[in-house]
Amino acid sequence: MVDAAHIETDLDPTALNLSESDILGRLKEIAGQIDADYEGKDLLLVGVLKGAVMVMADLSRSLNRHVEIDWMAVSSYAGTKSSGVVRILKDLDTDLEGRHVLIVEDIIDTGLTLSWLVKNLKSRGPASVEIATLLRKPDALEMAVDVKYVGFDIPNAFVVGYGLDFNEKYRNLRSIGTLAEHTYS
Ligand code: IMP
Repeated sequence: MVDAAHIETDLDPTALNLSESDILGRLKEIAGQIDADYEGKDLLLVGVLKGAVMVMADLSRSLNRHVEIDWMAVSSYAGTKSSGVVRILKDLDTDLEGRHVLIVEDIIDTGLTLSWLVKNLKSRGPASVEIATLLRKPDALEMAVDVKYVGFDIPNAFVVGYGLDFNEKYRNLRSIGTLAEHTYS
């Protein structure tokens, strides 16, 4: 049996590491900003499956207000590198007409998927569409869409944990880190 305590040892201790308390502390700060920015407005949080599950759970529970939560599942068409061509696997259950929408993301790399998503959601007549992401990589800074809330800007390395996977594994790690070389070589 492999347990979560064991899989922590697959992370490279010398590379980027965000502990559970680093993550929760930062999400609390962002939640405070969201509480202030959306005061008096209704708010719909939209998560993108599967990576955003943990961020959604902790960010939404740090808010001191009512929110609705809905989910989309999308898949990028071509290979491992994001192409920006997106297919909806599961659409929202909610009508966005007149709603304030906040997209909740785990990580933005190239931002291609997200640019597509913002355009798609804006075409549905919402009052506003903004983005909150826990992590942002350097390439995302060249993205045309603005990201209103960013947890951490991180270097250009592949990270896992806290919802983020490598071949569908490591999503259940409480912390975020870089895989040690022995795990994939
Ligand atoms: P983008 O369209 O290039 O921004 O791709 C974003 C998606 O790629 C994220 O939602 C993740 O699913 C995945 N991704 C990008 N970087 C990483 C990483 O370092 N670890 C795990 N998944 C990643």
